[in-house]
Amino acid sequence: MCGIVGFIGNNCEQNLIDALYKLEYRGYDSAGISVIKDGKIDTIKTAGEIKNLDEMLTTRNSNTAGIAHTRWATHGASNVFNAHPHNSCNNKISIVHNGIIENYIELKQDLIKKGVVFYSETDSEVIPNLIYKSNNKSFIKKFISACNLLNGSYAIACLNSTEKKLYLAKNKSPLYISKLNTGEMMCASDIICFESKAVDYYTLEDGEFAVISKDNIRFYNSSFKIIKKQSSKLGKFDFSFELGNFSHYMEKEICEIPKCIDNLARIYSSKNLTEILINLNINSFNKIKIIGCGTAYHASCMGEKLLQDVLKVDVSSFVASEFRYSKQLIDNSTLCIFVSQSGETADTLEALKLAIELGATTLVITNTMHSTMAKLAHVVLPTCAGVEKSVASTKAYVCQICVFYILKRCFDSQINKKCFDFYENLENLSVLLKNQKYDYLDSFVKLLSDENELYFIGRDKDLISSNEACLKLKEVTYINANAYPAGELKHGFLALINQSSYMFVIATEHHLLEKTLNALKEASSRGANIILVTQFKNEASSMCENVKFIYLPCFDEDLMSIVSIIPFQFLSYKLSVSKNINPDKPRNLAKSVTVE
Ligand code: M6R
Repeated sequence: MCGIVGFIGNNCEQNLIDALYKLEYRGYDSAGISVIKDGKIDTIKTAGEIKNLDEMLTTRNSNTAGIAHTRWATHGASNVFNAHPHNSCNNKISIVHNGIIENYIELKQDLIKKGVVFYSETDSEVIPNLIYKSNNKSFIKKFISACNLLNGSYAIACLNSTEKKLYLAKNKSPLYISKLNTGEMMCASDIICFESKAVDYYTLEDGEFAVISKDNIRFYNSSFKIIKKQSSKLGKFDFSFELGNFSHYMEKEICEIPKCIDNLARIYSSKNLTEILINLNINSFNKIKIIGCGTAYHASCMGEKLLQDVLKVDVSSFVASEFRYSKQLIDNSTLCIFVSQSGETADTLEALKLAIELGATTLVITNTMHSTMAKLAHVVLPTCAGVEKSVASTKAYVCQICVFYILKRCFDSQINKKCFDFYENLENLSVLLKNQKYDYLDSFVKLLSDENELYFIGRDKDLISSNEACLKLKEVTYINANAYPAGELKHGFLALINQSSYMFVIATEHHLLEKTLNALKEASSRGANIILVTQFKNEASSMCENVKFIYLPCFDEDLMSIVSIIPFQFLSYKLSVSKNINPDKPRNLAKSVTVE
């Protein structure tokens, strides 16, 4: 993972720090910066968040070239020695790297034999030393030939002490370049760094290299040949990056959900997207596979339920890292749907490449239209949630479900020759959610703040919501929350239940209510403290005693999973804050997981 940035021009250090803050979602274990100063490389780095580095900077306005990095640790602990930039042992070359160098051990042993001294446990430190030890004459040839020795994934930005230039390389990890409106040059792991500063940008592709000077960008292939590239227009970024009156991005992003649904309904009513959907002829597919990781996997499971409801072909969902390594029966009649907020998650991306290779039609549901997945897939459907900064995915998850709902309505209209219509329902959902209040959750925060374990049960879509609620709780509160199918209770995990256990029961599907309430009673009679989450107020309250309730408003059953997940997003947020955890940056995690 990690975020990298490079800059040439005025106020170099300040521009690098500002960009690093925008990349913080990619990791926040350590941060560092290198700039060229009086013909030397000047490197400052520190463990912990970017603000620590920000506080250490004494100069911010040099007119020079520099690189900076925010780290999510893969190889080596999160300490100052392993923080980037890493310099060659003669201190004349400095690099920042995002990715994993798989053959670093053999490269390192070779370099040690050649007299190189290493100061970190990282895989990245081999890179500046390979360049240093290269026998080529020009720096560009040294740089490209060193990168050609690397196996694995990398986006690299490199400085050498004698030139005001940036050298870039890319394989599997994203890297973008832009000449800013002010005439200065910038490269970064994400185009959000160019936001409101540029009109267009270049995307470096796998196996390509670039050299950026004060006023020129030159692209090369791996055989040192100069290549030409087209730039892309920088689109508008929806929703502000600012926190406004909110304390955390997680809170802000949950509160944005009604607006996002409204926005999504409008965008999908446009001619452009309606045509894309109508052209996706469901009759040409004999099976559908849906793939994602983490929360996006839970949205995939929800997609499976929604689509299977109307389709006669088999629909199945997979965790991307499992999909890649199990035998898949895929051919040109298979539709593979990939779900990813970032569009860069390594396992989902590799699964997408595999599906393309096997001849499937691929569809990506993503929040990042300039992402690698969006570029590779045959069809792209946007989630229109605006930038999601908090590590815990909330509004993007809801929008992913909305897109599956629209797909369901689209396929239903094709199969049953009905009118294709989703707008009104999504609009109504947005209004309903706008009017919900969640203050009642404060009493549950008090009740649960000392718990180390929580149980969830549910059936069908409610089981998926339970799994997603548990993931949110684990991520931002570190409570060990686990969900089980309601029917599985007596097949083993009932043994864990005693009088101090708290169990949430989600029941939003009427045809399953009675069965789920039976499981609730089994747990309740063993002493579990039950919190029932349902919209079936009258029926449930007459059937259950000694139970606390979270009553949900009634809505279309297809979209109830959205109504039922928001209280858990808020509960996780509130519990996190009550425990003095920063919900936007939970320990050990990063927003975008670009390593396998
Ligand atoms: O960017 P993606 O949607 O592909 O990310 C997938 C997961 O890494 C992500 O959903 C993760 O589980 C979130 N932190 C959950 O809140």
